[in-house]
Amino acid sequence: MAKVLLKDLTKRFGDVIAVDSLSIEVQDKEFLVLLGPSGCGKTTVLRCIAGLETPEQGEIYIGDKVVNDLDPKDRNVAMVFQSYALYPHMSVYSNLAFPLENAKLPEEEIKSRVQQVARLLKIEALLKRKPKQLSGGQQQRVALGRAIVREPQVFLMDEPLSNLDAKLRIYMRAELKKLQKEIGVTTIYVTHDQVEAMTMGDRVAILNEGILQQKGSPDDIYFHPSNVFVAGFIGSPPTNFFDCNLIEGVPCTLDTGEFRYPLPEHMAKIAEQCTSGVCVLGVRPQDVLVYRDAAGKKGLIRSKLEVTEPLGDKQILNLKVGDYLVKAVVDPDFRAEMGDDLWVKIPAKKAYLFDKKTGKALIA
Ligand SMILES: Nc1ncnc2c1ncn2[C@@H]1O[C@H](COP(=O)(O)OP(=O)(O)OP(=O)(O)O)[C@@H](O)[C@H]1O
Ligand SMILES: [Mg+2]
Repeated sequence: MAKVLLKDLTKRFGDVIAVDSLSIEVQDKEFLVLLGPSGCGKTTVLRCIAGLETPEQGEIYIGDKVVNDLDPKDRNVAMVFQSYALYPHMSVYSNLAFPLENAKLPEEEIKSRVQQVARLLKIEALLKRKPKQLSGGQQQRVALGRAIVREPQVFLMDEPLSNLDAKLRIYMRAELKKLQKEIGVTTIYVTHDQVEAMTMGDRVAILNEGILQQKGSPDDIYFHPSNVFVAGFIGSPPTNFFDCNLIEGVPCTLDTGEFRYPLPEHMAKIAEQCTSGVCVLGVRPQDVLVYRDAAGKKGLIRSKLEVTEPLGDKQILNLKVGDYLVKAVVDPDFRAEMGDDLWVKIPAKKAYLFDKKTGKALIA
């Protein structure tokens, strides 16, 4: 077992900086998810750790050892790819035994390790089959088995569930998380799916354009996004944003051009840190309150209902506030028609403030 430490890792492909001065520490036995949009450098990070790419700069530690100069086979890591890359002409048993035969382990030990892993992954009944006689989920488990059987110090998983159908993916999500805890191997798991990241990771590291945006527990990155990118990337539907000018006064007010948002004292203090004077106000659709009439309520913003998206247990309202489209999640029994005038409230306790110039969260 081992921790993994990346120090200032940089990898370029020609003009493209795929990974930009990335520093991350992954604790022993931790399940760390690397999350980010397509092309942000996730696979490149894994390939650098596995030794399949040579970084221009930075150190990679596995345990207490710098492994930059070690061959991939000497790093004791196992990588699971999106395409399972099973050997089609070999049985499941031979697929699992292959890495051990390569390592020239005694026959008896190979047999017992394969059996043990097959039991763990519940694929004992499939050992004689060829990969093409397996379902996607079963192939996935064999691919995992082939990684586990080597008893590596570190698992590197590159979107291993993305080829599965939605139902199986949800099932495998929980299975994989359970399995990782059972065998206790430090795991770096790559995905662009925020739900997968949030549900599986002990911690999540969010990358954009090769740069680390934030690293924290799922709750941390959801409730305390460090910048506009993270607030927009985590959560569904994405956070609503409003660009606004800060108007000093009592109370201090944000002017979005479409509406004014007076700030309570604690937020005014936070907003004062915005040296550029231009802020971004953010609020999650789940936190937007919607009313049919304004009677007796304060701080409401007039909107027009454009479209409703029913989802069974809830519905998403698409509301126009001037040029802004505001999404709000409401109960399924909220009745309103397209074109209705509705009133929106952004609760100050749930609102986020960012500096428009730097994108960074303004916090107390
Ligand atoms: N071998 C290569 N040659 C040139 N450019 C590359 C190479 N591999 C990756 N890149 C570029 O580096 C950047 C990061 O690629 P990477 O594959 O790491 O992204 P990713 O986050 O894994 O994306 P995805 O979610 O689509 O798999 C991209 O701009 C990509 O085009
Ligand atoms: Mg990738």
